[in-house]
Amino acid sequence: MPTLNVVNREGVESSIEAQDGLTVMEAIRDNGFDELLALCGGCCSCATCHVHVDPEFMGKLPPISEDEDDLLESSDHRTENSRLSCQIEFTSDLDGLKVTIAPED
Ligand code: FES
Repeated sequence: MPTLNVVNREGVESSIEAQDGLTVMEAIRDNGFDELLALCGGCCSCATCHVHVDPEFMGKLPPISEDEDDLLESSDHRTENSRLSCQIEFTSDLDGLKVTIAPED
């Protein structure tokens, strides 16, 4: 199973093993990170699954949709590495992906 590295809001990094095919949001949520609220359940309508992606992996991610872009625009913590984790399918191509849970808006 591919490994996902998650940095929480305290700056603590953990490695989790995630089933291929889950979204990054599901992998984080299912591993007990309750600070990632994911309120809409992955429908791309809440932005509470906002993460900052390690720059090394930005080029490997699926392109950002207009809806995702609009939602991220509403965050005060958007950076050039911002993505909504529910919009990233976690496949073995992304093994070792590192994301940091964005501060709460
Ligand atoms: S879980 Fe709501 S936008 Fe990702």
